Amino acid sequence: MTMKAGTKILAAVIAVLIPSAVFAQKWEGLADTPQMGWNSWNKFKENINEELIRQTADVMVEKGLLEAGYVYLNLDDHWHGERDVQGFIHEDSLKFPSGMKALGEYLHSKGLKFGIYSDGGTMTCGCQPGSFGHEYQDAYTYASWGVDYLKYDWCNHKDINPKGAYRLMRDALRASGRPIFFSMCEWGSNKPWLWAEEIGHSWRTTGDIGCSFVEPVRHYNEQGINDWTEKSVLMILDLNAPLRQYAGPGHWNDPDMLEVGNGMSVNEDRAHFSLWCMMAAPLLLGNDLTAMSDQTLAIITNKAVIAIDQDRLGIQGLRHSRRGDIEYWFKPLENGDWAFCIFNRGLEDTEVEVEWQDFCFTDSISGMSTDFDTITYRGADLWDDEAPLITTASPLKLTVPGHDVKLYRLSESTGE
Ligand code: GLA
Repeated sequence: MTMKAGTKILAAVIAVLIPSAVFAQKWEGLADTPQMGWNSWNKFKENINEELIRQTADVMVEKGLLEAGYVYLNLDDHWHGERDVQGFIHEDSLKFPSGMKALGEYLHSKGLKFGIYSDGGTMTCGCQPGSFGHEYQDAYTYASWGVDYLKYDWCNHKDINPKGAYRLMRDALRASGRPIFFSMCEWGSNKPWLWAEEIGHSWRTTGDIGCSFVEPVRHYNEQGINDWTEKSVLMILDLNAPLRQYAGPGHWNDPDMLEVGNGMSVNEDRAHFSLWCMMAAPLLLGNDLTAMSDQTLAIITNKAVIAIDQDRLGIQGLRHSRRGDIEYWFKPLENGDWAFCIFNRGLEDTEVEVEWQDFCFTDSISGMSTDFDTITYRGADLWDDEAPLITTASPLKLTVPGHDVKLYRLSESTGE
């Protein structure tokens, strides 16, 4: 028998003995709708510690964020200490003196879930210890701390195969015995939407977001060289919008965390939040919850808008058309409803007139049709409780302020 034939027989025997490898599947049922929570990165970068996390947890409960659906509290980069001689990772004990297990217990006692961050390479993007070569050990450690969510980044990976690296961590999480949400963060570099449905619960589709609506945010090093650039809301929107066919229950496109409350105008915050909901994006708050304005709180807890994001059909909305700076977005919802969003990309307030017949179409992904020629819908303005209901029985005329949206939930009119 040749070596090659011998290897094939061995492979066949292993395949029979270990049917489809026991652990070779992700945890199911963790992402029926896009994940919601808070993450430390956008606002705090490396400046995180136990006190901030505990205070954030308290606010999430006191201000009704948990009740609105934001259940994950996720530590991003820079929680790490060092590996011990056996290779086990530890927290930075100056930042987290009570330890991660105690922190996890605190979060759980509040009804929250505990998220943590690592990287498939040797170091994270912030040069902390990565999980390369320690995948099973780290997954075991996270499970022992009560971790419920892992964001897994892609810096310092020395050209290892991304599919292999992410599968390996998926298997390690599975083997840990604790259901842990797996948030893949390789920025869309390897088109994960084409191969990661069986690996992660969500995958980043773009590079990092910055707190800017139109222009990218450039960062310069000490030599004055632009070494890092964050994308604007509009840039990310345009990258994520065409990927709608790849998202669905259990596996979401992730256009990065929210910048609401971090310094854009209230119109821009509202538009950003609405569009992320139209795209069935993960809703991961990225602002300082301990010091936010009532206006910010009102945006991120708008239940009717969140319901668009969390709709059980799980269909990412589509950009139907664009006329000048005005975009028309639709998202099919449960019970034959539609979310309808008019987005003004420009700075000028713009008058629009909607002839509903222009928007008769069948969505190729959900198979749902708007049927505006045969069905009359009524719609509530989701950002203005006092506005009268609109009806598709007559054209809609309105002004959309610059960098803002009008957002409606259209339901079939029962004629009452
Ligand atoms: C990458 C990720 C960010 C954040 C940082 C942390 O840039 O894309 O979301 O996690 O790393 O260093």
